[in-house]
Amino acid sequence: MELSQRLQRIPPYPFREIARTKSQMLAKGRQIIDFGIGDPDMPTPDFVIEALCEAAHDPATHQYDESGYGIPEFKQAISDFATTRYGMDIDPDGEIQSCLGVKEALAHIVWAYIDPFDLVLVPDPAYPVYKVQATWCGGTAFPMPLLAENDFLPDLAAIPASVARQAKLLFVNYPNNPTAAAATLEFFEELVGFARDNELLIVQDAAYNEVTFDGYQAPSILQVPGAKEVAIEFHSFSKTFNMTGWRVGWAWGGRDHIDALSTVKSNVDSGTFMAIQRAAVVALANFDSHVPQMRAEYQRRTEALIEGLNSLGWNLEKPQATFYVWAPVPPSFESSAQFAQALLEECSVLVTPGSAYGATGEGFFRMSLTLGGPDKLGQIEQAIDSIAHNMPSLW
Ligand SMILES: Cc1ncc(COP(=O)(O)O)c(C=O)c1O
Repeated sequence: MELSQRLQRIPPYPFREIARTKSQMLAKGRQIIDFGIGDPDMPTPDFVIEALCEAAHDPATHQYDESGYGIPEFKQAISDFATTRYGMDIDPDGEIQSCLGVKEALAHIVWAYIDPFDLVLVPDPAYPVYKVQATWCGGTAFPMPLLAENDFLPDLAAIPASVARQAKLLFVNYPNNPTAAAATLEFFEELVGFARDNELLIVQDAAYNEVTFDGYQAPSILQVPGAKEVAIEFHSFSKTFNMTGWRVGWAWGGRDHIDALSTVKSNVDSGTFMAIQRAAVVALANFDSHVPQMRAEYQRRTEALIEGLNSLGWNLEKPQATFYVWAPVPPSFESSAQFAQALLEECSVLVTPGSAYGATGEGFFRMSLTLGGPDKLGQIEQAIDSIAHNMPSLW
């Protein structure tokens, strides 16, 4: 049976060559220090697991969540979080939608708004979901390059006026994967003005909003007055509470946008397991006892990696957020893919080539600090020693 045109249009898996080399090396018994995938290596906190166990024993959680938007205590906890964390007023009835992790909801918001030939503004480099979904809906993804000279923020003035007017959605993701850049509230204000002028909807992916360092607090775009009319924002329990496998998050925004998302979702899934929603409520209630230590751990790793790379000739500043380091490929290499392949073969260090996230990612590579194995700082040191030893003339 022939695959749909839609599926055939998906670009080939960008890490294929690296994945093949990795499995060959592992088969030969080589140890690899894996800075590839961004998936928290620390376990979900016990209090969340215990809350799930208790909730799962209650038969009332075993059926469909017929609310469509999330159980009342989940929506109330999110609304309370909006107030305590961001000083925002979010109505639990109508301005919040639970989701099965934000990946699912980011995909479905596109299905709510995009018809064939519609334009979607997407960052480049970016998490691939935005572009794939825009294309699946028959739309066209128009890239907004994220350049180092603009602090990896899109240059709104560089978007042609006719494109801006035609576009229906504009994706942003701050704190950003893969560049680790952070956005200020002033940037969000500018973006909201742009969305108003061009009558488009901003989709802000805030999956990394709580993975921040040195007291930096990532803003919510909904802190901008009036933003609910032109923006919807997606938050996840995945990175904040080491819950990637649990599949739980939320969207908040204006009623019309939440309703649109909810209509698509109600035709695709039947909500998040209610026991998981109850456990998520307990997670948020214990935010202050868990999140500072999560942040401190990634900060330690980030500082060790930045210091190590700088000792090898890079000139990197410490990011304010995320567990990624985004660094330029030394000029002696032809491409980010070639550099990543060489690092793996010669140094046993696995990184992701920037080109995997879009054409503008070429010339960079990403290292994720979610490391398997017991001694994280030891692995970082080992990786730096290995590069120093096996690639002595990088620059
Ligand atoms: C930018 C970005 N958005 C969303 C996600 C997925 O989050 P969730 O686990 O909530 O689906 C990821 C996961 O890596 C991500 O990097």
